[in-house]
Amino acid sequence: MTYLTVYTDGDTPGTLLRTEDTAEIATALKEIGVRLRHWRTVGGLDGAGQDEILAAYREEVAQVVAEEGYSFVDVAQLHPDDSPDWPERASAARNKFLAEHTHDDDEVRFFVAGSGIFYLHVDGKVHAVLCEPGDLLSVPARTTHWFDMGTRPDFTAIRFFHDDDGWVGDFTGDPVAARIPDYDTITADRAGA
Ligand SMILES: [Fe+2]
Repeated sequence: MTYLTVYTDGDTPGTLLRTEDTAEIATALKEIGVRLRHWRTVGGLDGAGQDEILAAYREEVAQVVAEEGYSFVDVAQLHPDDSPDWPERASAARNKFLAEHTHDDDEVRFFVAGSGIFYLHVDGKVHAVLCEPGDLLSVPARTTHWFDMGTRPDFTAIRFFHDDDGWVGDFTGDPVAARIPDYDTITADRAGA
């Protein structure tokens, strides 16, 4: 279930809104041009690879591709394991898009399992959208944002692209991401709320 926290973006960020209400979240995101939809979730996909996951969501994926012209769809997943290099891989993956950036393409993600937080920095506010299984988030091209998967990344997501070169981040250099509560903080606050 999606969880939204909205912050001011000043030197000492204040909390403007904190909600799990689906309609309230959709309205708040619509105001900044971001679309959130919800799909049914398919069980039994633990340990599944890309082909099996895409097959399980074939109809939904086909509909989004047809509606919005995406030409490339893949599955990104990261789950904790016992290998010695896990902490380094987890940290490297987390840091990749942890600073504010934009893309020339939309950033569209469907969460099959696990979670992650998209932070959308628009008009002096930061919308922190904790995405969970069933959530399809569409961040329009050029929207300033960052993504935090936490210090113990655990998620499976379907990604949609217009261009099979993938997409690169254009980093803004704005240190705002460092001022806003991170994934670990938000999820801990929510669990204790
Ligand atoms: Fe991004």
